[in-house]
Amino acid sequence: MTSINNAYAGLSGNYLFSEVARRVSAFRARNPETEVISLGIGDVSLPLIPSVIRALHKAVDEMACADTFRGYGPEQGYAFLREAIRRHDFLPRGVKLDADEIFISDGAKSDIGNFQELFGDDAVVAITDPVYPVYEDSNAMAGRAGVRENGRWSRIVYLPCTRANAFQPDLPDTAVDVVYLCSPNNPTGTVLDRASLTAWVNHAREHGSLILFDAAYEAFIRDDSLPRSIYEIPGADEVAVEFRSLSKTAGFTGLRCGYAVVPKKLTARTKDGRTLSLHDMWLRRQCTKYNGCPYIVQRAAEAVFQPGAEKELAAGLAVYRNNADLMLASFRRMGLSAFGGVHSPYIWLQTPDAMPSWDFFDLMLEKAAVVCTPGAGFGASGEGYARFTAFNSPENTKKALERLEKAL
Ligand code: MLT
Repeated sequence: MTSINNAYAGLSGNYLFSEVARRVSAFRARNPETEVISLGIGDVSLPLIPSVIRALHKAVDEMACADTFRGYGPEQGYAFLREAIRRHDFLPRGVKLDADEIFISDGAKSDIGNFQELFGDDAVVAITDPVYPVYEDSNAMAGRAGVRENGRWSRIVYLPCTRANAFQPDLPDTAVDVVYLCSPNNPTGTVLDRASLTAWVNHAREHGSLILFDAAYEAFIRDDSLPRSIYEIPGADEVAVEFRSLSKTAGFTGLRCGYAVVPKKLTARTKDGRTLSLHDMWLRRQCTKYNGCPYIVQRAAEAVFQPGAEKELAAGLAVYRNNADLMLASFRRMGLSAFGGVHSPYIWLQTPDAMPSWDFFDLMLEKAAVVCTPGAGFGASGEGYARFTAFNSPENTKKALERLEKAL
């Protein structure tokens, strides 16, 4: 028999969204006539904007011509896209990066899942609880998480985010090497303000830890004074990697494109005391294991950062924001406690009468044919909550809310 990576044996049975999908398929099989509305996985519903579609067509035509055809591209992404991102996403916020500190990929999930490969197997990792499962599972798969007991890994430091701390993680009181932060947060929909993010950056600088900052939802921030990038905080380029995605910003969940910012100032120590550049390590990793995001997708992504696209993107974001507004207002009118949803497409709903998350999920599915994501799937502190997304159509969102109200 093949010897396996034993770390997999300790993982929870299914990846959260696969378990949700499994239960929904079973419901559909039992109720073929019922229209199911998904406010579960954060998948966009609006089509790609016209600017992106035009760029895609053009790039596809280039591939049909010997003069313009492209084969393997640079593993870290084409310069045209890295430069467009630097100018569009960072310069206007006062963040000065070199274009080669930006690494294009097929999405933030892969980057975040892969980045932990650069850390020692003894590195101590801190994550918030609840948390986007990829941070925890990818470290567990690498064998860095210890033993799993009662839903928690023995070597992971959990930072509870509860109603009592307004879903804002407290700084760790033990030494950690790596901290994952996500703002606007998946799943709670809350956001770190400048003062809290500054405290995190200062803490990392004092303790020599690294922050992995997931900014996949930054486009949903409505208040311009809130930080969209961790590099808006002085000194963050010495302690933080940032991950971004075009999935939620520009509807690329199917097309796939994201990027990681790995500043050249970031360093880490080898066991024998030498200092290595994390930027060079990540470049080495990507060149070895990845052949780059497809050319046509990178041309499509470039279109997102061109002047004409802004208005088209804003129209789509407005639809999702209105859905979130409607959901928040409706939940509150129903007498429920709902959080997030202002700078985020996610609403974090406290279940009525402290109903366990999976029971609430099953009830919503059976009685309303509405899919949410059970909070407990994001960690122990998510028990008693459910996450709803604003990514469905306005019509379906309204219909789902009416059904929920009847079911409760
Ligand atoms: C979610 O629903 O949390 C996200 O869609 C998952 C992801 O982006 O991978």
